[in-house]
Amino acid sequence: MVVPVHIGIIMDGNGRWAESRGLIRTQGHLEGLKTAKRIVKAASDFGIKYLTLYAFSTENWKRASDEVSYIMGLVKQYLRAELEFSRKNHIRTRFTGDMEGLPKEIRKEIKDSIEATKDFNGMQVVLAINYGGRNEIIRSVNKFARENQQIINITEDDIKAYLDNPDIPDPDLIIRSAGEYRTSNFLLWEGAYSELYVSQKYWPDWDKEDLQAAIEEYNKRERRFGGITAA
Ligand code: IPE
Ligand code: IPE
Ligand code: MG
Repeated sequence: MVVPVHIGIIMDGNGRWAESRGLIRTQGHLEGLKTAKRIVKAASDFGIKYLTLYAFSTENWKRASDEVSYIMGLVKQYLRAELEFSRKNHIRTRFTGDMEGLPKEIRKEIKDSIEATKDFNGMQVVLAINYGGRNEIIRSVNKFARENQQIINITEDDIKAYLDNPDIPDPDLIIRSAGEYRTSNFLLWEGAYSELYVSQKYWPDWDKEDLQAAIEEYNKRERRFGGITAA
């Protein structure tokens, strides 16, 4: 079985999971956090090199402030609790998203985790928080423009070089849980040729077997990148 180098996951369905059980939405997020830990472990066991987890989008600020603060609290909790696990498994924390728009204490927590794990050479977990694909591209173009005022023709390579993590290869596979067939602003640039896999299961119900099923399905795909298959 070929294991994708980079998998991105749109972890969706926490709210519906909770509502279907008569629970409040935040309980779904708490359960979703446990799932994220499970899947990080599973992905590391499968030998995935990069795992990008979509935890909070630039559009998710539209939600009730209680829900937003609860999610931010979970992010903090995740970063702290996972440090021990990361050390043991040499997992490196990375970040993508608009850091400036995050509360100060979350920013600090993220930066500390990145710093503490920067020399680990196991799997890299990229946390997409306050992330929007359009926002990332705009930030890239603005950074480029500030540093290269004389250049008027921006190339693909220029935009790529100023994205959040230009060293990380594009995702081979993007998974979305909870049955929605859209990208919701996830990895717009990087996902141009990613294989898409939609699972009907809500994120809190996800397990190692679900990740394995996604990887197996990925193995049946024929990636052409606009070319034609060799006979
Ligand atoms: C995904 O679950 C988590 C975040 C977007 C933060 P949702 O909260 O979107 O769950 P549903 O889609 O309402 O079920
Ligand atoms: C996408 O889920 C964002 C995350 C999983 C963090 P949403 O629930 O926000 O997406 P929409 O609103 O269904 O498109
Ligand atoms: Mg949702």
